[in-house]
Amino acid sequence: MLKAYKIALLHGDGTGPEVIREGVKVLEAIANKKNFKFEFVNYDLGGARYLRTGEVLPEDMIKEFKKFDAMYLGAIGHPDVKPGILEKGILLKLRFELDQYINLRPVKLYPNVEIPLKNKNSSDIDMVIIRENTEGLYAGAGGFLRKNTPYEVATQESINTRFGVERCIRYAFEFAKKRAKNNKLTLCGKTNVLTYASDLWQRSFNDIAKEYPQIKCDYANVDAICMWFIKNPEWFDVVVTDNLFGDIITDLAAMIQGGIGVAAGGNINPEGVSMFEPMGGSAPKYTGQNIINPIAAINAGVMMLDILGEIEAAKDIDNAITKALESGKIKSMSAGKMGLSTTEVGDLIASYI
Ligand code: IPM
Ligand code: MN
Repeated sequence: MLKAYKIALLHGDGTGPEVIREGVKVLEAIANKKNFKFEFVNYDLGGARYLRTGEVLPEDMIKEFKKFDAMYLGAIGHPDVKPGILEKGILLKLRFELDQYINLRPVKLYPNVEIPLKNKNSSDIDMVIIRENTEGLYAGAGGFLRKNTPYEVATQESINTRFGVERCIRYAFEFAKKRAKNNKLTLCGKTNVLTYASDLWQRSFNDIAKEYPQIKCDYANVDAICMWFIKNPEWFDVVVTDNLFGDIITDLAAMIQGGIGVAAGGNINPEGVSMFEPMGGSAPKYTGQNIINPIAAINAGVMMLDILGEIEAAKDIDNAITKALESGKIKSMSAGKMGLSTTEVGDLIASYI
């Protein structure tokens, strides 16, 4: 009997279905080669469903997702839906309810990928950012007082629990150890101003560091890291940070790896079900044209295989992406400028498997 992985497919909105289609194509190709299989189950979630039915994310669905080996998400976002509804109601809700407490973001520059930085190449840009994914300013703590009056007050509190911070930092140390690149872990915070939240992070980090004498520990303030990612990305190996800082620096980092056409992320519950997604949104203006870059989604598939324990298969897809880019046939990472269609990029990558 072939080993089978049950995967929930959340195509989502806009260009989501187009990139997931190519991701699935490449995943099927590797499964054939490696003698395992996927059982994909489609779920209808996103702005289109919300506009049609008023439903954002049915409770039963969350329960069903727990039975899968992983989830593969295209994009959530719709121009006719007010910002916040789908983000909080679907994406953040899934992260929280499924306790996907790590947001994993590899930042790797493939060959022939154009970036805004001068004089930096693939050997300079190869790091992994580990973002806490269930707490901080995303926890939703706070509220209004005297809303819509001249005296209104809005508070938004950053929630940092010792438990939540420790499990994230421990994951980061383990990750740095397993990755065995420079054995370096950088904590990104703001200890010079956030003397409570960042202090808790710093103390947890220092305590856990004692268990990992082989890992070189480093610290950087979040504002400084924004400068260094541009000036000296080669300094970084693994970076760990809180939810909002992580949100911001991973977008910056996406740009130094060639943009959202390439960047992928994993919402990881190391003890449960994880969800993998390309970083790009639903891109309404490119929808249905078969011109969006599917590499980010294919990369999300690589991460999924890694977490499922199919390390060799993950490496093979990563190599296939490298070869496809080395071939010079993909002219740009930007939608509409690739010189190939979405389908053709997927076919090209699958052909190297
Ligand atoms: C991300 C996204 C989300 C976030 C949005 C869509 C809620 O920007 O995954 O980084 O802020 O976490
Ligand atoms: Mn973001």
